[in-house]
Amino acid sequence: MKILMVGSGGREHALAWKMAQSDAVTQVLVAPGNGGTAVEAKVRNVPIAANEVESLLNLATEESIDLTVIGPEAPLAAGIVDRFQQNSLKCFGPTAAAAELESSKAFAKDFLTRHRIPTAVWTVVETVEAGLGFIDSHHFPLVLKADGLAAGKGVVIVHDRAGAEHTLRDMLSGQAFGQAGSRVVIEEFLEGEEASFIALVDGETVVPLATSQDHKQRDDGDRGPNTGGMGACSPAPVVTPELEHRILEQIMQATATGMLADGRHFTGFLYAGLMMTTVGPKVLEFNVRMGDPETQPVMMRLKSDLARVLLDTVEGRLDQVVLDWDQRAALGVVMAAGGYPDRYDKGNRIDGLERELPDHIKVFHAGTDYSDGQWTTTGGRVLCVTALGDNIHTAQTEAYRHVPDIEFQNAYFRKDIGHRALKHETN
Ligand code: AMP
Ligand code: GLY
Repeated sequence: MKILMVGSGGREHALAWKMAQSDAVTQVLVAPGNGGTAVEAKVRNVPIAANEVESLLNLATEESIDLTVIGPEAPLAAGIVDRFQQNSLKCFGPTAAAAELESSKAFAKDFLTRHRIPTAVWTVVETVEAGLGFIDSHHFPLVLKADGLAAGKGVVIVHDRAGAEHTLRDMLSGQAFGQAGSRVVIEEFLEGEEASFIALVDGETVVPLATSQDHKQRDDGDRGPNTGGMGACSPAPVVTPELEHRILEQIMQATATGMLADGRHFTGFLYAGLMMTTVGPKVLEFNVRMGDPETQPVMMRLKSDLARVLLDTVEGRLDQVVLDWDQRAALGVVMAAGGYPDRYDKGNRIDGLERELPDHIKVFHAGTDYSDGQWTTTGGRVLCVTALGDNIHTAQTEAYRHVPDIEFQNAYFRKDIGHRALKHETN
């Protein structure tokens, strides 16, 4: 089996690495890939960007690709799966219509309400006046979300009327998020601990992956600006077996069934960002792809043959799939370029990556490039140092033990990845 993996982040490195381990896989092409996929066994980078749908289609045809796997949301929202299907090519991920669960927050909220899936009380507005009407009849804090894709930056928590009005005007004027902000979802602020719940869906059948937890704020103690994710661990102990069962039935299965009823058959990774409130789990957002960096610890724990499982999903055989997990915990620490998520340097040389690593440690690349035997930084999130351990505490110790071995100018990382999970472990 020959695979094409689309994307260039840590998520794509982890997925490509895992699929390359399959005996059934001869080669994994990654478009465009990064400095990690450049040197991975059985993996080859192809310089085509993730949003170049027609070029990817040609590549898949020319290279006789058996299965294409889409990493990021943008090509999914642009209809890459629809285009591949029209050409009778197998492509893992939702169609553009199904990807609206992520690409339109207004669609997702309306869907959740219609199918009675728990989520925060909300409205969607297109004018400042309408927005203020909702704001004046609800308590602060409130959450304002640009409707469209805003690369994880379209969510603002507001604490007073002046701030709410300012943010609302900014979003609706198109200055903050362009077209993505022409409609704004306003919703109540939910209190609790967040967790990521990701499942494979083939239309009808839902198979959960191991639970995980991201760390979205840049700084220790969950402070500072929101980022793409500064580290993750798996499992997320806040999701007890009882809650896991409830989430699977009332949120994940209900979503797959609701999408079928709406004529938007969902295939792919379905990711629910959840808030564990005192009255139970509620959906904060949907993503229609794997999380980054959640993928990195989750793939460290997956023992099943990922390439076969994804092919089974595309071919509608998920009802026959049972996933096998390493019972150990895994934890990944993102090493970022200082200044991220704002301004940061690129092109800095990275040292320490050539070292042999024990089996329970893996360094996944994100914003890196490899040429002439040297790695350099090319992005804000540079690497994700991931470790397995008997519990979260050990996985954390092991990951942090390895971080100082890797050096680049202005490297920045959080020192407390796993802190929420650890509280459950010691209690
Ligand atoms: P989203 O892109 O919708 O996941 O929002 C990004 C982050 O904002 C989430 O991971 C939460 O930390 C926070 N957030 C979003 N919606 C809410 C909400 N209704 N209540 C509290 N926090 C929220
Ligand atoms: N880790 C959050 C995301 O991938 O959206």
